[in-house]
Amino acid sequence: MIVRPATEADLETLARLHNLAFTPGWDAEEIADLGSGPGGFALIAEDPEPCGMILWRTTVGEAEIYTIAVDPAVRQRGVGRALVAAAMTRARRDGAEKVFLEVSVENIGALALYGSTGFSRVGLRRGYYTTGHETPIDAVIMRRDLNT
Ligand SMILES: CC(C)(COP(=O)(O)OP(=O)(O)OC[C@H]1O[C@@H](n2cnc3c(N)ncnc32)[C@H](O)[C@@H]1OP(=O)(O)O)[C@@H](O)C(=O)NCCC(=O)NCCS
Repeated sequence: MIVRPATEADLETLARLHNLAFTPGWDAEEIADLGSGPGGFALIAEDPEPCGMILWRTTVGEAEIYTIAVDPAVRQRGVGRALVAAAMTRARRDGAEKVFLEVSVENIGALALYGSTGFSRVGLRRGYYTTGHETPIDAVIMRRDLNT
């Protein structure tokens, strides 16, 4: 497996991967908006076909992971871990000292991934996720320090 920076030519692939993981997923334009803004960055995993993506933004010493998505066909084989590791290396190089993200309290897979890649719970946003849920779902705020 390789993890490489995504380019403009990958936008449709990034959207396809995102839509395999989220309903509704983001389209290429939404991904381009987030990824091409200041500090925006996306990585794509290939094994050898595209199988995962991560998108984040680094600004003034802090990074925020916007999304990570792995093709359901290859989950729990280390693709997510490889994407997080590569993103953290790149974010650190871009000056990030800490990284934040939000994740649903019900997202067992993502909580396991982040917990095993050095993130800790630092807060809770009650009723944060409303789309597609009868009852709003809480979000855990997680943080990882990159200089320790
Ligand atoms: C979350 C997600 C990116 C994880 O990707 P992945 O490639 O399956 O993760 P990895 O194989 O690298 O697993 C990393 C760790 O998490 C654990 N894990 C991953 N999914 C798990 C699950 N569903 N249940 C329990 N543990 C899980 C793995 O066992 C591994 O644990 P270890 O470090 O102890 O070995 C993937 O499930 C996904 O795309 N989910 C849908 C999109 C999503 O929810 N994104 C996150 C939004 S915040």
